[in-house]
Amino acid sequence: MNIVIGSDHAGFDLKEACRSHLVTRSEFAVKDIGVFSTDSSDYPVVAHKLSEAVAGGEYDFGILICGTGLGMSIVANRRKGIRAALCHNLYTVRMSRMHNDANILAMGGRVIGQGLALEMVDLFLNTPFEGGRHRLRLDQID
Ligand code: RB5
Repeated sequence: MNIVIGSDHAGFDLKEACRSHLVTRSEFAVKDIGVFSTDSSDYPVVAHKLSEAVAGGEYDFGILICGTGLGMSIVANRRKGIRAALCHNLYTVRMSRMHNDANILAMGGRVIGQGLALEMVDLFLNTPFEGGRHRLRLDQID
């Protein structure tokens, strides 16, 4: 499974933790598209780049982290084919995959702790889409 991860400066520390966590798992190939420091940066640049790559089929799933997760999810969801879920807990992560077939997980590096975030990432990548009536609803989005 191909995963792409990105952040702005406010999500950098959590992005690093998530990337380190994922590279230990042989079932995932992880591409880090930056940023690579806590120097001030603009979340739309990273969100556009990452969502374009996911929408184009280059990656199965994306993970976007800014201070709140809000800016990243707003930008990513502008792109057709992207279903970016801004999540703060395990329940919404699970539902984002089962019901919404989310293809990007957005999180807030200034909102949630590292322990929870790593569990959220694992759950996101391991929870299948239920399909059925939820597929019909996804078809109505576009
Ligand atoms: C950066 O200060 C912050 O605004 C950004 O990381 C993000 O939270 C925006 O939605």
